[in-house]
Amino acid sequence: MKIGRLNHVGVAVPDVEAAKQTYAELYGADEATQTKDFPQLGVRVAFVKLANSEIELLEPLGDESPVHKFLERNPKGGQHHLCFEVPDIVAARDDMVARGATVLGTGEPYIGAHGVPVIFIHPKNSNGQLIELMQEPS
Ligand code: CO
Repeated sequence: MKIGRLNHVGVAVPDVEAAKQTYAELYGADEATQTKDFPQLGVRVAFVKLANSEIELLEPLGDESPVHKFLERNPKGGQHHLCFEVPDIVAARDDMVARGATVLGTGEPYIGAHGVPVIFIHPKNSNGQLIELMQEPS
């Protein structure tokens, strides 16, 4: 298994709409998706479109949200994860496990905000960086 292209950079923020405005007004990145709630994932999400990638803005929905604790430590928000594409998410998961990496949650791929299966690799395996692997969108 070898990771493919960088799909997006995940950024945790206290307010997705305000963050979208920052990228539009300060950086001219005014192309973004509609902000959408994913209660099953515990996040409110919008993607800011860039020429070569995207920024995934993540706002916690509730105290159980996976970004809730991150924002407690970083109240203004900050860089949360990197997401790379892989051709086959199940094969990638099996490779990660075989290489001794820790897959977060149940260890089973699940449908993320892009509508394709994803897994997350524990930051302890990647120099402190949380890594998302995502099945290549077809
Ligand atoms: Co992501």
